[in-house]
Amino acid sequence: MSTYDETRRAWDEASSKHVREYAEHLEQARIARLLPIEEELLAPLIEGAQVLHPQSGHGLDDHALVRLGARSVLGLDYSPTAVSAAQRRADDLDAPCRYLITELPVTGLDDAVADLVYTGKGALSWMADLDAWAQEMHRLLRSGGHLFVYEGHPLVPLWAWDADEARVRPDRSYFADTHVNDTFPARGATEHQRTLAEMVMTVVGAGFDLLHLAEHPDPFWRPDDAPPAAAWDGRLPNAVSLLARRTP
Ligand SMILES: C[S@@+](CC[C@H](N)C(=O)[O-])C[C@H]1O[C@@H](n2cnc3c(N)ncnc32)[C@H](O)[C@@H]1O
Repeated sequence: MSTYDETRRAWDEASSKHVREYAEHLEQARIARLLPIEEELLAPLIEGAQVLHPQSGHGLDDHALVRLGARSVLGLDYSPTAVSAAQRRADDLDAPCRYLITELPVTGLDDAVADLVYTGKGALSWMADLDAWAQEMHRLLRSGGHLFVYEGHPLVPLWAWDADEARVRPDRSYFADTHVNDTFPARGATEHQRTLAEMVMTVVGAGFDLLHLAEHPDPFWRPDDAPPAAAWDGRLPNAVSLLARRTP
């Protein structure tokens, strides 16, 4: 089990990938697009929006958000390495994206700075206190602003990655609070779990109206070096999308 500081250090080390692969990321950013479901949901509300991207990581999605119509994106991440690589790329491409080294959920930002919070793709499982996270998202959004999450499905920690047959891991429980990650880039780190119901009720309880919730068969991420897992063959949920509006 890792401590918070160890996990933070591990993420900073893992983020050196964004520096090593800077040239490739730069080319990917020039043509980056969101997933079709993300574009469908965000297109009607993103024109001219000031977007906040907590746990922005490599930040490639920020260029896609701008391409879709966002006026600006502010990425937040506690990895100085991730933040500086993302900022360098935004500067090189003259994109309206800015990045801050910030710990979540305490960010030190003013209230109501965003029209849209865009987050996920490996973000929420690093939040020990989801209530505090949801309240922080509510605080940072203007009244009527939107929270969009595209995230690994809460069942994903249970799926074994066997290529021949989809299996449930005997060492994991859907109702556990945590598990230890055993895949790159977060190997050894403690991840937090919550059920889909807990995730939705936390968002609603923080003061959001739920507009959209859907489960998807494709994972948001596949490791480069592993064969496709049978758990990704379209029969099981691997991702979830959620759109909610901040109530006044
Ligand atoms: C899976 S990665 C990146 C997710 C991002 N959506 C992407 O597609 O690149 C998760 C990111 O969360 C950041 N992170 C994890 N815990 C954090 C925390 N408590 N505060 C701020 N950033 C955090 C890590 O540094 C890492 O860049």
